[in-house]
Amino acid sequence: MKIVKYRTILIFICLITLVVLFLQMKYIYKKRKFDSYVIAWSTVMPVRNYVFSSDISLLNCVNRGCKNQPIVTLFTTFKTDYSVGSEKLFVFNNTLYNWQTFKPLAQLIVFTKTKTYATDQVNLSHWNLYPICSYYESGIPTIKEMHVHAKYLHNTPWHGYFNGDILLTDDFLETLEYISSVSDTFRNASILITGRRINVLNVTSEEVRSKNGIKESARSRGSLYGIDAEDYFITNSLFPWSKIPEFVIGRDGYDNWIVGHARCDLETVVIDATETITAVHQTTSKGGNKEGFTNADKMYNIELMQRLGLPKRFLQGLTTCAEWRTFRTIQSKRIELVKRDDLHKNCKCKKWNAL
Ligand SMILES: *[C@@H]1O[C@H](CO)[C@@H](O)[C@H](O)[C@H]1NC(C)=O
Ligand SMILES: *[C@@H]1O[C@H](CO)[C@@H](O)[C@H](O)[C@H]1NC(C)=O
Ligand SMILES: *[C@@H]1O[C@H](CO)[C@@H](O)[C@H](O)[C@H]1NC(C)=O
Ligand SMILES: *[C@@H]1O[C@H](CO)[C@@H](O)[C@H](O)[C@H]1NC(C)=O
Repeated sequence: MKIVKYRTILIFICLITLVVLFLQMKYIYKKRKFDSYVIAWSTVMPVRNYVFSSDISLLNCVNRGCKNQPIVTLFTTFKTDYSVGSEKLFVFNNTLYNWQTFKPLAQLIVFTKTKTYATDQVNLSHWNLYPICSYYESGIPTIKEMHVHAKYLHNTPWHGYFNGDILLTDDFLETLEYISSVSDTFRNASILITGRRINVLNVTSEEVRSKNGIKESARSRGSLYGIDAEDYFITNSLFPWSKIPEFVIGRDGYDNWIVGHARCDLETVVIDATETITAVHQTTSKGGNKEGFTNADKMYNIELMQRLGLPKRFLQGLTTCAEWRTFRTIQSKRIELVKRDDLHKNCKCKKWNAL
């Protein structure tokens, strides 16, 4: 009788121990997943002094005229393990070529984890190649990291992250110049510009070599993609990137969240530039609309939101929820900015006081 009783107790204790061990393992695993691998920035980059906290560069540029002054720092990152002759490398190469044409009005940065055949294609007389200093298990950088470093490296009025398969035309700079010229309206406000992309299948090298070619490819066979996909984030120097969680690019959920958060919690002026920025997404035969999302860690950003207890900001972050939008006047084809007064009811922000 006694032995039986002790045995039951023993088994019970063993079970509890197992459960505790299991929970702890799970916690450790989860924690590891969210730990970043940080290389000290100072070990790879000389420290330089820049003015961080003001919009002086923007105002100076507007007052003096922005002629031949870099107005924007454009940056992106690529998976660098593309093989020679692959479709991905072709797309990457197109983007490199296209963005180069914005020099000297744009500063260009590719962030990369390693030096490979693909990064050897980057022409260093046009581009800066910088290491990704903080990345996650799969080696993907966070959008915050890239924005913070881009701002550190180049003191331009605007900083824009674009996905690496996006081609641009001159209307991109035209839009930024226009918004700069009216930014007095938003004195001391942080500004975030985003928009929808245009999917174009089989963009050719010939099309990429002229801005008209890109425009024409978009006009003839492009299709405007969803209002829930944001492939670029251009901000002025007042945008508080340091307050944005460590979302990684190329995984679901972060794009709309950032736009919703900016609108609802950061008092940012959010501008939808869909109508004036031609952002051509090079769609490849392998698809390319949800490329990042077959990976094992596709829920990374969503899990991070849950872990941090962040509010839902998905519906508030659709491009159509941006309070402002750019458009072209019918007669003179000039770019203008207008406030939307017909926002969908889902755009309304629910209160959240955690930050
Ligand atoms: C990339 O483009 C450049 C110039 O257009 C070309 O010379 C080079 O061969 C291309 N590289 C690849 C891998 O396609
Ligand atoms: C890089 O760009 C410079 C300046 O436009 C050009 O002279 C040079 O030939 C380019 N290098 C390569 C490898 O394409
Ligand atoms: C903007 O900020 C500057 C410096 O912080 C301040 O001097 C100025 O009064 C502010 N302007 C407005 C309109 O709030
Ligand atoms: C695009 O290219 C693929 C493969 O090269 C081809 O099968 C397809 O028909 C092309 N589509 C269009 C619309 O040109």
